Amino acid sequence: MAVDLINISWSPIILLLLDISPMLPVLEGVVMELQDCALPLLREVISTDKEDLAFKDLDAAILVGSMPRKEGMERKDLLMANVAIFKSQGAALEKYSKKTVKVLVVGNPANTNCLIAAKSAPSIPKENFSCLTRLDHNRARSQVAMRCGVPATHVKNVIIWGNHSSTQYPDVHHCMVKMAGSDLACFDAVKDDAWLKGDFISTVQQRGAAVIKARKLSSAMSAAKAICDHMRDIWTGTPEGEFISMGVYSTGNTYGVPDDLIYSFPVQIKDKTWKIVDGLEINDFSRGKMDATAVELIEERDTAVAFLGQ
Ligand code: LMR
Repeated sequence: MAVDLINISWSPIILLLLDISPMLPVLEGVVMELQDCALPLLREVISTDKEDLAFKDLDAAILVGSMPRKEGMERKDLLMANVAIFKSQGAALEKYSKKTVKVLVVGNPANTNCLIAAKSAPSIPKENFSCLTRLDHNRARSQVAMRCGVPATHVKNVIIWGNHSSTQYPDVHHCMVKMAGSDLACFDAVKDDAWLKGDFISTVQQRGAAVIKARKLSSAMSAAKAICDHMRDIWTGTPEGEFISMGVYSTGNTYGVPDDLIYSFPVQIKDKTWKIVDGLEINDFSRGKMDATAVELIEERDTAVAFLGQ
């Protein structure tokens, strides 16, 4: 499937699924499975290969389709193919969707694809665009939970900074773990600083690649769960005192992150509006890793924007 779009009003939900013409028979299978789920809020599923139908009056768009990296492909070839896809989808959002549409980009390289879609839809506020780092956030939460022997719900306020790539920085300096009835700082709960500053970080950074190696396919169920978490939090807000991670537009005013990037930050959401959690202390260890992932995003952006102008 190249692209999925979802049209949500609070209730009921009408799903619009867009794909390229040769994939329409396959999409019919997806439609059947959706119907067979007997989902309580799902009233209608429409599959189409027509952008004007798929993007019309959307409240929410989930852009999952992108060109995957193939053997022998250079990073810039991948970016060039994806700039074309996300330029066209941004233009379709601009032309057909509501100006209030919330756009979630999942297809990789998700941050830069999201930036290109936002730049291609100039009349839709940049704040309406976000990219998925909730999958990395959930991965980080789960790794800490398994290490501490507690459920994932007992771990909160991990942060994913930067790019949804192996340069991302999973940060637990503000994470709290509920253990034996007390709320402990993550470092006190885990009691293994070397693991938290080493293998924990690389495990989360490399998790997508590890899933592909094992399954011979990219993550599916965990990505779908993360998409649901992300969209639910946009619609219903984040719990009091908790923050989640998402890639959002950086204006250059927060945590020394350069402007004009889609960079993953800790955010809180209320009334369908996200706000970066400000004022968290950043030590030198974190600073170096936050800057390194920004450097990668700047390189991706500059290459992509050069293609955009062509
Ligand atoms: C993931 O994090 O699981 C995916 O983004 C990996 C990929 O390249 O599809």
